[in-house]
Amino acid sequence: MKNILITGGAGFIGSNLTINLVKKGYNITILDNLSEQVHGKEKNSELFNSIKNIATFILGDVLSKSDWRKALIGQDAVVHLAAETGTGQSMYEIARYNEVNVLGTSHLLDILANENHSIKRMIIASSRSIYGEGKYYCSQHGDVYPLERNEKELIQGNFEPKCPVCLGKLELRATDELSEIHPASIYGITKYQQEQMVMLMGVTLNIPAVSLRYQNIYGPGQSLQNPYTGILSVFSTRLLNGNDIHIYEDGDESRDFLYIDDAVNATIMALENKKADNKIFNVGSGSNISVNEVARRLHDLYKAKGRLIVNGRFRLGDIRHNYADLTRITAILGFSPKVNFNDGVISFVNWVKTQDIEEDKYDASINELKNKGLIR
Ligand SMILES: NC(=O)c1ccc[n+]([C@@H]2O[C@H](COP(=O)([O-])OP(=O)(O)OC[C@H]3O[C@@H](n4cnc5c(N)ncnc54)[C@H](O)[C@@H]3O)[C@@H](O)[C@H]2O)c1
Ligand SMILES: [Zn+2]
Repeated sequence: MKNILITGGAGFIGSNLTINLVKKGYNITILDNLSEQVHGKEKNSELFNSIKNIATFILGDVLSKSDWRKALIGQDAVVHLAAETGTGQSMYEIARYNEVNVLGTSHLLDILANENHSIKRMIIASSRSIYGEGKYYCSQHGDVYPLERNEKELIQGNFEPKCPVCLGKLELRATDELSEIHPASIYGITKYQQEQMVMLMGVTLNIPAVSLRYQNIYGPGQSLQNPYTGILSVFSTRLLNGNDIHIYEDGDESRDFLYIDDAVNATIMALENKKADNKIFNVGSGSNISVNEVARRLHDLYKAKGRLIVNGRFRLGDIRHNYADLTRITAILGFSPKVNFNDGVISFVNWVKTQDIEEDKYDASINELKNKGLIR
């Protein structure tokens, strides 16, 4: 295995993966349409500049079968990262998210099923968003997977999910790969479909496939322009523009944040280790950090003037907590994260400080959600 196609290779995860795989001696081809939301109007983002001289770059779209054909020539493996990635945005651009994520992946699989090709391995970027709300434990009912929280409870400031059976108090648990799948966004639904299509066709076509359910990946190179994804970027852009940060709910909602280098290492393990064949893995840090903590860390590190305002509002469909159980990926691939959040966030902030301060498009993106009735 020497020649690897990375779709979305100019993006955050893809560009970092490309740099590392090139160092290891692989020949990388990238298929990427340099989407404006990620790379800006001029399409000369730092991300693109970081890969354009070290990989074969094909400016193309996963919605074009002929672009796929061109990109697949002579490749041994495909790492399919290209996607629309905004959870909130997916709730009012439903066709676009389905088109790029589901139809885009279908074109790849159609070519592999019907045409000559040299692909011997597929890696698909799945997402923690497919789980929706994470796993919890009820002292009466054992492991439970709460559904969407009730609007009445949220209005009253009761943010923690309750046991779906007895409505009792729950303890949070790490979400493992066998946890219930109940995505809380169209984005999550499309990621699950991508994953399942690739895993099924991998077995059918005898092409080993691996799905990586990434948690929230952060670090240098993450788009500072895209107001739809990446809480660390969104908060940074606000703080550096001197704006306040509005924190939803009570700020104790939490996520699992994994530093980019660790995410890249997990991806390379999935690519190189045959033990990963036809398996699905969580890729995360294995611990959860609250939104309040993220905001405070960034505020301190930037010595920012803006205030942190916990506003008690909520976004419909937002989940409360989710963090990865890493037992499987640790046991099978030997993966464990190397960079803890405290160190990772410092590297991220130091990188942000070297960047032009982006115009803060967050309010506009929030107004979009408000106008569609998705924020209460
Ligand atoms: N970053 C995370 O926290 C995270 C978490 C879970 C899953 N993922 C998944 O990992 C993958 C990569 O995420 P990322 O953070 O690097 O995103 P990103 O937005 O930085 O990169 C995506 C890349 O895909 C390209 N792209 C978008 N639409 C395309 C199209 N139609 N044709 C060709 N290229 C297209 C974009 O130009 C961009 O370079 C995605 O599939 C995403 O769903 C990411
Ligand atoms: Zn119960």
